[in-house]
Amino acid sequence: MTNETIPPHFELHTNDFENDFIWGVSTAAYQIEGGHTIHDKGESIWDRFVSQKGSIFREQHGEIACDFYHRYESDIELMKAMNIPNFRFSLSWSRLMPQGDGASSQAGIDFYNRVIDYCLKCGITPWITIYHWDLPQNLEDKGGWTNRDIIGWFEGYVRLCARHFGDRVKHWMVLNEPMVFTGAGHFLGVHAPGRKGLKNFLPAVHHAALCQSAGGRILRVEVTDAIIGTTFSCSQITPRTKTKKDIHAARKADALLNRLFIEPSLGLGYPKDIKILQRIEKFQRPEDAKDLVFDFDFIGIQNYTREVVRHSYTTPYLRAKIVKATNRNVQTTLMDWEVYPPSIYAMIAKFNTYKNVKKIIITENGSAFQDSIVEGKVHDPQRLAYLQHYLKEVHRAKNEGFKISGYFAWTFTDNFEWAEGYRPRFGLVYVDFKNQKRIVKSSGKWYSEFLRPLFDQASNEKKEKTDVSTGFD
Ligand code: FCB
Repeated sequence: MTNETIPPHFELHTNDFENDFIWGVSTAAYQIEGGHTIHDKGESIWDRFVSQKGSIFREQHGEIACDFYHRYESDIELMKAMNIPNFRFSLSWSRLMPQGDGASSQAGIDFYNRVIDYCLKCGITPWITIYHWDLPQNLEDKGGWTNRDIIGWFEGYVRLCARHFGDRVKHWMVLNEPMVFTGAGHFLGVHAPGRKGLKNFLPAVHHAALCQSAGGRILRVEVTDAIIGTTFSCSQITPRTKTKKDIHAARKADALLNRLFIEPSLGLGYPKDIKILQRIEKFQRPEDAKDLVFDFDFIGIQNYTREVVRHSYTTPYLRAKIVKATNRNVQTTLMDWEVYPPSIYAMIAKFNTYKNVKKIIITENGSAFQDSIVEGKVHDPQRLAYLQHYLKEVHRAKNEGFKISGYFAWTFTDNFEWAEGYRPRFGLVYVDFKNQKRIVKSSGKWYSEFLRPLFDQASNEKKEKTDVSTGFD
């Protein structure tokens, strides 16, 4: 696929998927909301991390971001105008519970009530992620994810979310990509809270895995008709060569990047392929084996790229190394991630093989490319081609009978891309961060045309209902 390719005959329609296939867009609180100190909102680890010199591209931060806190109505209206029927967003823990445990914030609860009610008013179904990486700083000060007490703190927070929003919100995801917030945030130190090394990573992994299932159990009790999932980052892993060493390295990378959190939740325990993971035992209590398990209604998988992996003597613990896409002469995005549509198919196929996975939903997929405004328009052929090619692969998986039942594009508007700041733009809608103006990109226009039949179908059904009742009156 070359940079400019748009499939010449892109003949995919929403009716090629099942009628109840779910379509939407995904966002996360810290990346869009802004309002970082409004009312009594507490500080989160991301509020703190961005203030540390050298952590973020050009010292950028999410203090205003897309100002979704104030602009949620017009953004949700735009979503509606774009025929998008499902909106996945996350709740900010420190907005709802400023200190992470104890007192809740009425202003925070009111804000999410307004967002939820406005979605429903616009006919958009809200999908909530409970935790998308912004731990309250007060909890981090007590050890955060490395402290086993996080289970109790998290349970309290989940209960609060369920009790306040569960009457109207029926679709829930417990965690967003635990592998990323433990790996980038607790091993590499490149994401908040900036912790490093195995001594932080291993307990964070185990406690996140326990919270993943504990959160599911609380939602099950509190919102009896909830559809409950959690989300995992995943990438197809290809060994660089067919040598035994590279194949072995690829297997270890797969265990770490793709299997670490799903397998304990299914009762399979942590993958045994990586010796170092056995040290998690140190943090395990006898009752944990069963507590790690939860019967999720769906698994959210988030796929952007694939990784090529080789053996490496010099990489500690893993002896495996990712071969950078920029050294492989392949098309890449602004994140330096390879554009590789078959990866999404491979990941659906992989998660499909787990017997106890009931449903798979793509809860994130998208791309960042350089955008520019020309005569008031943003033409983004590369993002459009990416979206279409990846959707074709999702359709292929669907056609082959895999349990794939939804697709959420990452993301609605350009936003704050964590350590990369505002440089990589992933949105279907362009944001001019100087004045917060929104411009729907050509990819966004295409997605809304693609989704239009759903909208027409929904309004016809509504009309039929009205016609019927008029007929009987
Ligand atoms: C995922 C994150 C999401 C966004 C995309 C590009 O790993 O869940 O918040 O940053 O990557």
